[in-house]
Amino acid sequence: MIRARITGTGSYVPEKILTNKDFEKYLDTTDEWIVARTGIRERHIAAEGENTSDLCLKAARNAIDMAGIKAEDIDLIVVATITGDYPWPATACIVQNKLGAKQCGAYDISAACSGFIYALSNAVAQIESGTIKRALVIGAETLSRIVDYNDRNTCLLFGDAAGAVVLEAREGERGILSSHLHSDGSYFELLGQPAFGTAVTPTEEIVRDRGYFLTMQGNEVFKVAVKMLAEVAQEAVEANGMTVDDIDLLIPHQANIRILEATAKRMKLPSEKVYINVDRFGNTSAATIPLALDEANRAGKLKENDLLVLNAFGGGFTWAATCLRW
Ligand code: ACO
Repeated sequence: MIRARITGTGSYVPEKILTNKDFEKYLDTTDEWIVARTGIRERHIAAEGENTSDLCLKAARNAIDMAGIKAEDIDLIVVATITGDYPWPATACIVQNKLGAKQCGAYDISAACSGFIYALSNAVAQIESGTIKRALVIGAETLSRIVDYNDRNTCLLFGDAAGAVVLEAREGERGILSSHLHSDGSYFELLGQPAFGTAVTPTEEIVRDRGYFLTMQGNEVFKVAVKMLAEVAQEAVEANGMTVDDIDLLIPHQANIRILEATAKRMKLPSEKVYINVDRFGNTSAATIPLALDEANRAGKLKENDLLVLNAFGGGFTWAATCLRW
């Protein structure tokens, strides 16, 4: 059987670090509050002129090097992002050009924090059907560009990063086993960026009132996120005839520590089986999972044939999980 297997991982975070102490200097908040409520200690922020496509490129090159392929071998580039360089054309096209990938397919997927799993599932389907042999899947964000740094309810949570994987067609049991995608658009107003799409176009008033930033109702997001993250991870293992006990490592979307701990508790999964790096990077939306996967991989924490589950929840609402044999 042909499966899509991850043959290379890569990631990149910008150099500049914003710590909780930096927020203490000008916001009514404390390091203690931020750590207790979110688990986040620092996040990386893109430099001026450093765009999502630049982050993608660095993560992609690392993944391509690990896979031992050339950019021109890639048949498809999918970028999961809600902070693309432009509304259109797709950031994936900019990456295709900068990488020198030969006129391959390239498009973006918008599913907020679930975006990487949506993008992965999309590329996997094309590999399994025999349409393509190799794909580059990237999750990347420069959320710092859409965060209001005067809003203490949101600005502490987010960071910038990119993570990438090379997927290749391989025979055998190792590779992506299944992906499970869900959404409920009735919640669309609880988390998002109200302007500037085509529904709310730029006006002087919106710019003056700072109405173009990310908005979020944190409490509501929290409740639904924990339930759906646990349910979709369970759905993924059960779809493959396994149970939560079979999971070697859960690599969840890094939203905040309380969501991660509550999800693990709901799943009855021991904390040592949950990968956590939210303390160092914050919530980087579509980038959290490939960034964590690359970190775990390069640290030698992933063993051949390990059962990994990736799960995510984000604006839309969207939620998703992938089960894979490493
Ligand atoms: N510093 C100090 N105090 C604060 C801050 C701050 N930055 N922000 C809020 N407070 C205060 C509030 O004013 C409130 O004070 P009060 O009790 O006197 O009224 C108190 O702290 C509690 O406020 P809540 O908003 O109820 O705080 P909560 O415990 O819900 O924590 C948080 C807020 C961290 C945003 C939480 O709701 C959360 O984690 N939500 C999930 C949101 C999330 O992760 N979103 C990311 C995108 S979605 C995703 O990735 C899954």
